[in-house]
Amino acid sequence: MTNALEKGSIVAVIGSGAMGAGIAQVAAASGYQVRLFDTRAEAVDKAIADIGKMYGKLVDKGRMDAVDADAARARLAGVASLKDVAGAAIVIEAIVENLDVKRALFADLEGIVGDGCILATNTSSISVTAIAAKLRRPERLVGMHFFNPVPLMALVEVISGLATAPAVADTVFATAAAWGKNPVHAKSTPGFIVNRVARPFYAEALRLLSERAADAATLDAVMREAGGFRMGPFELMDLIGHDVNFSVTQSVFNAYFGDPRFTPSVLQQEMVNAGFLGRKSGRGFYRYGDDAAKAAV
Ligand code: NAI
Repeated sequence: MTNALEKGSIVAVIGSGAMGAGIAQVAAASGYQVRLFDTRAEAVDKAIADIGKMYGKLVDKGRMDAVDADAARARLAGVASLKDVAGAAIVIEAIVENLDVKRALFADLEGIVGDGCILATNTSSISVTAIAAKLRRPERLVGMHFFNPVPLMALVEVISGLATAPAVADTVFATAAAWGKNPVHAKSTPGFIVNRVARPFYAEALRLLSERAADAATLDAVMREAGGFRMGPFELMDLIGHDVNFSVTQSVFNAYFGDPRFTPSVLQQEMVNAGFLGRKSGRGFYRYGDDAAKAAV
């Protein structure tokens, strides 16, 4: 069986938004040295402060030892330049969901990291094969797809592109398991497993809302209370972020040559145009206060 990356080795996380912060929190708590980078320095500071608070809450609830929390905090550091991730054993990318931007980042990283470093992308929907295609060594790039919120969601999809070396996917699989996750191997298909199966959940809900079948809160309540889902579709899209959710739908739609089943929603596009991105911007289908409590718009 392939081993996980060694405890104490450096995990670089690029992008310190919702997903990057969650991945950093889990990796540091699992005994790895974490280096966080973002083109917006304030995002790194916020992520580190938020992770510290999350560890504090876990200690208060008796789910983490105070000494372990301090040690995890000490393993976490922000870096000001991409060059500072040179010593990483793995780089996990969690930046904007855009193929060209991700390709450019990995091309830069190839010139910075050592030969043994694994390059992982947390993309929700972009072809892992395509992200890797322009690299000198595409065999070391793999998808490591976490779910939101990362500390709570056990599933990690380990996505192999056409060029991904099986040993690289196996190491990432074992590392996710060492972080307490429940990984699954999958091939690079549009939307992979979960985001493919979930497309109609969002699309039909958005169509129902556009047709004024009921309001968002009612539709969410029906899916939660009668349907047995943990969250309704609108609450979930607000959590994911409409910019992210919309780009995932667009990318699955394009990847299937415009298959009408995956047609993106004009209503959701308008939410993105307005900057109503969900929890992260304070407003989506609901409004969110400082404590992230939600209220009807
Ligand atoms: P986010 O918008 O919360 O954070 C993205 C961060 O990346 C921002 O802080 C931004 O400043 C930074 N960034 C953008 N371009 C950069 C670059 N070139 N170099 C360094 N930093 C850069 O986005 P979120 O939700 O964390 O998503 C990140 C990735 O994770 C996307 O690929 C998304 O599809 C994927 N993902 C998102 C999930 C979700 O529920 N939001 C779930 C699973 C995967």
